[in-house]
Amino acid sequence: MIVLGLESSCDDTGAAIVIDGRLCSNEVITQMEHSRYGGVVPEVASRLHEQNILPAVRRSLELANVSLDQLSGLAVTVGPGLAGALMVGLNFAKGLAQARGIPLVCINHMEGHLWSNFLERPLQDDDCPFICLLVSGGHTQLWRVDRMGSYRLLGSSLDDAAGEAFDKGARLLELGYPGGPAIDKAAQSGDPNFVEFPRPLAGSAGCDFSFSGLKTALYYQLRRMDPATIASRRQDLAASYQQAVVDCLMDRLRKAVELTGMTRVCVAGGVAANSLLRERLDTWAAADHLVVSYPPQQFCTDNAAMIAMAGHFRLMQGERSPLSSEIKPNLRMDQLATN
Ligand code: KG4
Ligand code: ZN
Repeated sequence: MIVLGLESSCDDTGAAIVIDGRLCSNEVITQMEHSRYGGVVPEVASRLHEQNILPAVRRSLELANVSLDQLSGLAVTVGPGLAGALMVGLNFAKGLAQARGIPLVCINHMEGHLWSNFLERPLQDDDCPFICLLVSGGHTQLWRVDRMGSYRLLGSSLDDAAGEAFDKGARLLELGYPGGPAIDKAAQSGDPNFVEFPRPLAGSAGCDFSFSGLKTALYYQLRRMDPATIASRRQDLAASYQQAVVDCLMDRLRKAVELTGMTRVCVAGGVAANSLLRERLDTWAAADHLVVSYPPQQFCTDNAAMIAMAGHFRLMQGERSPLSSEIKPNLRMDQLATN
């Protein structure tokens, strides 16, 4: 089965080919224009997806050495995400499915992130059940995964997502957009103990997260400092802030493991690219004898490889979505994306 995956939920236009469950190409065109505005501008994103989707598809076919006639299925993100951006991918996929007479399957973007853990090694029977921490720009959620397709929410952020906390923190620190990679880089040479930022909800009973207080604490910290000191301690501030975000993620993850008794953990989403988080996950796995996985760097942020792989899985199970399918900007991972 040759599946073309399409991703356009936010500011990355992606097209990827998966042949019989093996990733053969993955083309991502990232929209750098948003950095001028300090965040994603929805209308700009939609226009750029329109410009980029055909070149991304052509390139992914070329790289995989596959022609349009050979495609046996199409997988496309229908939510969650920006409405106008999602429409570009879905309409493109519907047109192609109709013209070529091939099946279409609608994919939940968050389930795609989950699949990014199984792009370089196939999913094995004994991988399930596991706990999944999804940490992106729009979501921070803990899920119990009994098998692929069967998900139960354990906890989520009550306010900002972890990626949003990085993006907003970076804006306050004048480190640019996207904020996660900028803070990660600045923090490499900083002192993480320079400021003791709060760890909201750490130690609390459930598995929920909260990050908005952390951003506010950074705001007030910066107000207490003069511009010259901020400039000379920017790396220290970034390292302290990053450590607080990662501490919160680790605390909630530990809680989920404690509550469920599970020993397998997968982390996915843009924030899974964070070097401190990856380091802390490795240390924890070794100390507590857990099996912890996270995707290779290039598959943490948005891409179509994960959508094509989720599509392969769902198409193999016989799932099909009608050509009347619609975008679902607020789709949850435990809601079916297929109709
Ligand atoms: O999954 P993703 O590409 O898009 C969404 O589905 O939201 O995640 C983007 C988020 C952004 O907030 C970005 O700042 C964050 O992931 N991110 C990082 C890193 N790389 C990307 N956060 C922390 N450290 C990183 N290295
Ligand atoms: Zn994403």
